[in-house]
Amino acid sequence: MTPFLEMHGISKTFPGVKALNRVDLTLRAGEVHVIAGENGAGKSTLMKIMTGVLRADPGGVIRIEGKDTVIKDPVHARALGISIIYQELAVVNNLTVAENVFLAREPIGPLGLLDKRRMADETRAVLSELEVAIDPSAKVGQLSIGQRQLVEIARAISYRSKLIIMDEPTASLSHHEASTLIRMVRKLASQGIGIVFISHKLDEIFEIADRVSVLRDGETVDSRPIAEMTRDILVRKMVDRDLSQLFGEHHSHATDEVLLSVRALGEKHHGQIGVKVSDVSFDLHRGEILGFFGLVGAGRTEVMEMIFGSRPHVGEVHIGGQKVKISNPSEAIAHGLGFVTEDRKELGLVLGMSVRENFSLTHLSDYCTLDVVSRPRETAACMEFVRSLGIKTPSTEQKVLNLSGGNQQKVVIAKWVARRPRILIVDEPTRGIDIGAKAEVHALLNKLAEEGISIIVVSSDLPEILAISDRVIVLKEGRISGQIDRADATQERVMLAATG
Ligand SMILES: Nc1ncnc2c1ncn2[C@@H]1O[C@H](COP(=O)(O)OP(=O)(O)OP(=O)(O)O)[C@@H](O)[C@H]1O
Ligand SMILES: [Mg+2]
Repeated sequence: MTPFLEMHGISKTFPGVKALNRVDLTLRAGEVHVIAGENGAGKSTLMKIMTGVLRADPGGVIRIEGKDTVIKDPVHARALGISIIYQELAVVNNLTVAENVFLAREPIGPLGLLDKRRMADETRAVLSELEVAIDPSAKVGQLSIGQRQLVEIARAISYRSKLIIMDEPTASLSHHEASTLIRMVRKLASQGIGIVFISHKLDEIFEIADRVSVLRDGETVDSRPIAEMTRDILVRKMVDRDLSQLFGEHHSHATDEVLLSVRALGEKHHGQIGVKVSDVSFDLHRGEILGFFGLVGAGRTEVMEMIFGSRPHVGEVHIGGQKVKISNPSEAIAHGLGFVTEDRKELGLVLGMSVRENFSLTHLSDYCTLDVVSRPRETAACMEFVRSLGIKTPSTEQKVLNLSGGNQQKVVIAKWVARRPRILIVDEPTRGIDIGAKAEVHALLNKLAEEGISIIVVSSDLPEILAISDRVIVLKEGRISGQIDRADATQERVMLAATG
């Protein structure tokens, strides 16, 4: 059978970057095709070419159902049956579910008015086909991220898409939402829709794929049915190293000295929407890596925001034995705290600024003599992190906006680590990061701990928490439901404490 889409010799050059180099790829109807590869390998760029967002360099060929095709723009791509669901969701929060599904192509009734009835009916039909219980008249802003993603899928289906591209769709989903999505994807494929699925999560790749292709430095280095793929081969193809070499052994550097002590931390205003954090008390030792685990919504980020002064709270915080009052992030920073936030786009980075400017934003004075910034010193310090974390960028002057998602995340980590905080909080540090970089981030956190920095790691990735933590605190519905030492921390025990 003629494949739905074939690409031959597709290249894409940006100033200073060859993002894709003569890529070949064949996508078939009814097949889930996973595209794997390191941060910056070219995955998103390839998807943008398929959806008409970017035009490939001259020389390559795209064939759709056997016919040579130039995909002119996103509207044209949609007409050809190609839809994309971005990691950064494209739904409009203050419109209803039905209005989002029909966005920009609303049906008009006989009197020239919006045919709301038809929109609601058709949306309900698509949603019930997907077997999801979402009310078409609900405002999208009230839905969870997982549900919003399902609305995007409903939209893609109602376009009668033949190929649906999902770029890291599970990155911000809870475990439960991710498994719903995976079931949905399998179902769409069984109905003959082709799916392109980008993911950095090995478990997920093996669960969902019919076929895996690997991109490295803009080239296709492998493509095979999942039955012929193993974890070892996949990792080797992606990062050119063995899985077993990637993650080193764990050594604890925790001392007896308590550096941070939190007592009876809780929500200040009652009746606030969301989780109610209450009565959270724990100690953090010098050089310790303390893992914070919990299901999405358990209140982990809220606790960290309270400690960092960006969320009102009651309770006490002591640093180095002294009671401190932190009511905003600058005070937290002055007390030696650092916070790598979970949401890099909103809080972590200024996308229009360069790698260097983002990097030194938090500690520019380190490179100043008598108020004059030494650009060479600043650039050299930035280069050191670019090298040690393997940040893929043509230079430190590149705008962060032009880096791949995972490389942006590395810039956020670099900028906080460079300040040399005494206590570093990292919230979902490896989300969207490839397995090689993940190992580098773990090694970096270990090195910081060895230097006496105390670290709190918040993560939904249970294997990550177990691999990196000296001790694990589990939160459930805003309260501590378990404190488990490394020696006793098994997947089962931690999960049990999280779910109760
Ligand atoms: N608009 C742009 N201008 C300049 N360079 C770009 C632009 N878009 C992407 N790049 C570069 O092209 C390369 C491929 O980026 P791409 O976003 O496709 O990677 P990716 O495989 O999706 O990575 P990730 O896993 O981190 O999302 C990177 O080196 C990136 O910095
Ligand atoms: Mg990407």
